[in-house]
Amino acid sequence: MDNDSDINFNNKKKTFFGQPRGLSTLFFTEMWERFSYYSMHAILLFYLIDNARNGGLGMDTPTATSIVAIYGALIYMSSVIGGFVSDRILGAQRSVFWGGVLIAIGNFLLVLPLKFIGLYTSIIIIVLGTGFLKPNTSDMVGGLYSKTDTRRDAGFNIYYMGINIGALLAPFIVGWIGQSYSYHLGFALSTIGMILGLIQYSLGRKKYLKTDGLKPGDPIKPAEKGKVLRQIVLILFLIIGGLILMAVTNTLNVNNIIFIITILGVLLPIIYFINIFRSPKITAKDRQNVLAYIVIFVASVFFWSIFEQIMTIFPLVAQQMTNLSILGLNIKPSQFTGFNALFVLIYSPFIASIWTKMGDHQPSSTTKFTIGLLSSAFSFLILLVPISLYGIGAKFSAWWLILGIAIVEIGEVLLSPAGLSLTTKLAPKAFTAQMMSIWYLGDAAAQSFNAQLVKMYTVNNAPIYFGVMGLIALGIAFVLFLMHKKIANLIKL
Ligand code: PHE
Repeated sequence: MDNDSDINFNNKKKTFFGQPRGLSTLFFTEMWERFSYYSMHAILLFYLIDNARNGGLGMDTPTATSIVAIYGALIYMSSVIGGFVSDRILGAQRSVFWGGVLIAIGNFLLVLPLKFIGLYTSIIIIVLGTGFLKPNTSDMVGGLYSKTDTRRDAGFNIYYMGINIGALLAPFIVGWIGQSYSYHLGFALSTIGMILGLIQYSLGRKKYLKTDGLKPGDPIKPAEKGKVLRQIVLILFLIIGGLILMAVTNTLNVNNIIFIITILGVLLPIIYFINIFRSPKITAKDRQNVLAYIVIFVASVFFWSIFEQIMTIFPLVAQQMTNLSILGLNIKPSQFTGFNALFVLIYSPFIASIWTKMGDHQPSSTTKFTIGLLSSAFSFLILLVPISLYGIGAKFSAWWLILGIAIVEIGEVLLSPAGLSLTTKLAPKAFTAQMMSIWYLGDAAAQSFNAQLVKMYTVNNAPIYFGVMGLIALGIAFVLFLMHKKIANLIKL
């Protein structure tokens, strides 16, 4: 199979920055999906809070913030559904297509003045659509390479640039149009973006994508149908039953839902790993690979925890502790979230070309993860410098925060594409898409965990908060460094 694909996809005439041509199809699909996700991310909060005269829904700020948090966690948790559907029913290619259709419909519902009904239905549809699209697109990027193709990591670095072009354009274009003209117009733009993405995907997939993603990796056998159906009904029953129980006991509120999602966020990856380990469909070699993967996965959760706080705590620090004028411009706290994508785009071409040049000699995934964790540790620890120089409560230059983001992004560019690449490489055949779901569950677990953690942050305990979190990340980086050889010995391709 790999040899066949080499003939079809390594054809020099049809490359995308020296990579298989299918990478371009997946690059633009994911770019538009992220454009739509980060657009929603940029305007949802303001749409919820703004009063009706300004076209908003007039919600109170705490409830609105919680809804945005739940949305963020569910978006990545739904990859579990997408992984299942792809591995067992539709295959990756069709799952991505239907995911894109759902996302476009979800965004379109927000173009119409449907208020709350429109909002909740659209959130459910977009969450499902993203679960179908995001893990399966990443999974298919892995499918473009043979297990030993050294272009793989560089390919994921390029793909990661697509993600971040979408993430950078969204707050600027949709954020600006949404807040200056109309939220509905903003959502219309993200609908159009997703439709463009779908059109180019439909045209490109037949030509450039491997035929692998056309079939489910582990289709449900006729004899299994009853059992799987019973399991699905049981899960639906538990969810609906639980919600009804909460409603009648008057405990159905946003805080309780966030709490349940926190627990789910942590439990889901554990359940998934146990499930894979117990499966008769995996070989002894697969088991070793999954074991190595678990160590790396746990390290990634610590990285994502710090990374996601750049999106939540850093804007708060910006507002409370910094002087927001930079190069004569007065920046808004929320705009700090845009710096992540900007730094990813600045670093990625260098990193991708370094990996391409190094080929076989590039550092192992474990080394990339160790450096990633080190950089996340230093992005927090660096804040101790201005705090100790100027004292708690004094305003320091916002450049310190930008420096912190610049440091953590070195880590993201090393760790995140390497993580995607490793996930596709170590996945047992019967679980390829579901392993990708697990990768996204790492971020979901971190965000769920953060939902509780960030409550501890205040201006007064900022030094302890950043100091302790930074030291923990340093510790994890050190442990990973010590386990380097063990992990390498476990991995068998
Ligand atoms: N910028 C990344 C993305 O949007 C952040 C991320 C990494 C999210 C890993 C989930 C998991 O894809």
